[in-house]
Amino acid sequence: MPERHVHLNTFAHGSGYHEAAWRVQERDPAEVLRLASYEEIARIAERGLLDSLFLADSPGVAEFRTEFLPQSAFDPLQVMAALAAVTEHVGLIATASTTYSKPYDLARRFASLDFLSEGRAGWNVVTTRIPGVAENFGGEPHPPHADRYARAHEYVEVVQKLWDGWDDDALVGDKAAGLWARRASLHPPAHRGERFDVASVLGFPRSPQGHPVLVQAGASDAGIDLAARFAELVFIGQPTIAEAVAFRARVQRRAADFGRPSDAIRILPALPFTLGSTDAEAKALRAELEAASSSEFRWRNLAAMTEIEPHEIDPDAPLPAALLDAGPRTSIGATVYALARGREQTFRQLAEQFAVRPGALDFTGTPEELATLIEQWWRAGAADGFTLMPMVLPRDLALFADHVVPLLQRRGIARHEYTGRTLRDHYGLARPRPARAASRPVAAA
Ligand SMILES: Cc1cc2nc3c(=O)[nH]c(=O)nc-3n(C[C@H](O)[C@H](O)[C@H](O)COP(=O)(O)O)c2cc1C
Repeated sequence: MPERHVHLNTFAHGSGYHEAAWRVQERDPAEVLRLASYEEIARIAERGLLDSLFLADSPGVAEFRTEFLPQSAFDPLQVMAALAAVTEHVGLIATASTTYSKPYDLARRFASLDFLSEGRAGWNVVTTRIPGVAENFGGEPHPPHADRYARAHEYVEVVQKLWDGWDDDALVGDKAAGLWARRASLHPPAHRGERFDVASVLGFPRSPQGHPVLVQAGASDAGIDLAARFAELVFIGQPTIAEAVAFRARVQRRAADFGRPSDAIRILPALPFTLGSTDAEAKALRAELEAASSSEFRWRNLAAMTEIEPHEIDPDAPLPAALLDAGPRTSIGATVYALARGREQTFRQLAEQFAVRPGALDFTGTPEELATLIEQWWRAGAADGFTLMPMVLPRDLALFADHVVPLLQRRGIARHEYTGRTLRDHYGLARPRPARAASRPVAAA
């Protein structure tokens, strides 16, 4: 029976998850643009024996954000490749969009990271929500939600075929015979699909994990379907234990529909947190962050997340009835509209309460209290672990590693050392066997 413990992944971006984190720290606001700041976060994650760190991404920025919080949306794969060289254990999960890239390119880049990190690569598969991104990619309008997810299904299918393009034993390295790899062990995808045609194999053998670990964070029904079919880690959850237990069961049932075993997916809900040595200290730190936040940023950000154009609303009036009646445009919108209905609150007031993503957990307190929350959720079967969203980086992550992890260890639910080598080992995920059905061996030339 494999060792069971709480799995821990952490958000590793910028100065922290709270938009005002950069304003309450001593650091240079440009620090987030230096590799050293990522390296510091990764080292803390390893000190806390975390399973993985992840970098979010969108291939474009909503310009209003540049005023309010540090922008460091580097290509996550490049940052992770740099971190692979200075870390030994922690998993490296990069986000990349299926809407604004091609399967051969991403299959190659993630498998490269898997080699460079000796089996620690993961891909957070996103379909990209921000419509403005389309204008950076040449003319085509931003595809509707259903199309983006349909494309993502075929996309991941092709990527998996590419990752399976070389048999595990293809590399022979027989110097005497002059045979580096067996050509008969190549299986070009020869994929001809609705959206993609991909002919040939990658230019290097199957990567250490077989497939880099697949991650999904979409919250809509279509997002959950994509997760159920492909994902091994899921970053969304629900705000209460009861809802989270039901959500986990739903994802597992849907995964079973796709023929996957019940232990194929680990659910790691996002967990934003602020820590202090006493409750009062934690609340004061959180209040300091809130005092430094901007009401202008909050309403513009909520409008973006709900896909409401700023010109459609007056931030100092309640959401117009016509908008509410037309129904939410995003999965976050569904949560927000439900809160807005029947209240006199202005959109600005509504937005001010969301320091975190609407519908997510939001913790402020002591290490002891956080360890208790984590243990309760885990023991109740509400989560396999968490995606930590430290409000202030690196401060809150360091407090977590040095004060929460030892408590979890004492409670017998956190590892005492890394026992595996790969990201799959950390999460107890099986190494996939190549699926051969759809590919055919290369014809002899
Ligand atoms: C922890 C977490 C991390 C996420 N990271 C990203 C990201 O880096 N890039 C992105 O475009 N979306 C990201 N998302 C958003 C989701 O991929 C998705 O777009 C959103 O939840 C809306 O879901 P839907 O498109 O299925 O409605 C993240 C969501 C969560 C909960």
